[in-house]
Amino acid sequence: MDTLAPAKIDREALASRYRANRRRTAGLYSMIAPESYYEAPIPLRHPFVFYDGHIPAFSFYTLVRDALKLPSVDAAFERLFDRGIDPSPAKAGEPRRQFEWPDRDRVRRFGTACDDAVLAAYATAKLDDPSTPNLVRGEAAYTILEHEEMHDETLVYIIHRLAREKQRGRTFEHRDLAPPRLDPVAIPAGRATLGARRDALAFGWDNEYEEHVVEVGAFGVDAYSVTNGEYLAFVRDGGPVPAFWVERDGRFELLGCFEDLPLPLSWPVWCTQEQATAFARWSGARLMTEAEYHRAAFATPSGEERAHPWGSAAPDPNRHGNFGWRRFDPEPVGASPQGASAWGVHDLVGNGWEWTATPFAPFDGFQPMASYLPYSTDFFDGKHFVMKGGSPVTTSALVRRSLRNWFYGDYPYMYAKFRRAY
Ligand code: AVJ
Ligand code: FE
Repeated sequence: MDTLAPAKIDREALASRYRANRRRTAGLYSMIAPESYYEAPIPLRHPFVFYDGHIPAFSFYTLVRDALKLPSVDAAFERLFDRGIDPSPAKAGEPRRQFEWPDRDRVRRFGTACDDAVLAAYATAKLDDPSTPNLVRGEAAYTILEHEEMHDETLVYIIHRLAREKQRGRTFEHRDLAPPRLDPVAIPAGRATLGARRDALAFGWDNEYEEHVVEVGAFGVDAYSVTNGEYLAFVRDGGPVPAFWVERDGRFELLGCFEDLPLPLSWPVWCTQEQATAFARWSGARLMTEAEYHRAAFATPSGEERAHPWGSAAPDPNRHGNFGWRRFDPEPVGASPQGASAWGVHDLVGNGWEWTATPFAPFDGFQPMASYLPYSTDFFDGKHFVMKGGSPVTTSALVRRSLRNWFYGDYPYMYAKFRRAY
């Protein structure tokens, strides 16, 4: 670790990304009817009030209290709002922690106090300090930004489940096209570089390290994600119904984020990893492994590996895919051809996270990150699976080759799609 080059700390850039995140989060809260503040539309997750406190609390205690060692703003609230992640569907029947949540004004005042302390730290504190583990290469300063960006995405999954009359969402234009048909693409055997070097990224989560090369055998993969139309045949044959579908008068509709739509047949089907695996098996295929995803997305016929499926250009939601908060719902598969990989595989970033067959596990050299020790380790249980790429509500800042997301194989609410591999 002591050989690492110091990080480049751009105080203005950190503060403006923090402010943009706070604005996005506030915008999401404005999409929730005020009387729903204490509701938990996904029973396994906390009510909205929790995330309103948790996001700024985490930012405050991770950077200011625990890394910079400054005093608490409100020790009781910091404890109340400490964690809130991915509960197991199997625990649905268990009692939840019960208490009176504080009123909204108090939560908001607490959040503002946290924000003020964070922005003061961004302005003047020593953010990169090789002698403090949480501050090596500015770790805590970045951790809190990506933490909020991820929570904004999972907050949308919850707002999605709020009764329509309690949503204050926007409506968008939707397109449903005849889905393109292409034969599977042959990916030759070759190398895939997974993970990242610690000095190659401005910031990475602990589970992205260390960088290593994997030899991957030849395989075939569909150029397009499995669509609702294709999945419908599986349902008609007895396959499980995704949580985003509802049957009305013998027809399936899609529960879009803010509206119900006649099932858009050309959109990728969003479903659980178990449903994806069952579909693939039913149709004589399987899911890609994490390493195969890297081959399909980043490898090239010349052997060079690229930063993104489309090459080295910075991720641009208007060119490269359905990510970066351009909209909330999917688009037809293949709607962002400029984002296709060198092999012509579409939508590897955006339009829904890509399920893989790979259980979430540490890479060799893994070390829990000092600024958030249980971030990954709690989930190395063989029941969570790696997802790659991103969804419509994944920020562009999170689009990088080494980023790994994960959820339980049977967790039904996230925005995740898949494609067949052979
Ligand atoms: C990485 C998206 C699986 O929401 O469960 C937020 C991110 N961890 N707060 C989750 C997270 C702690 C995490 N995921
Ligand atoms: Fe969190």
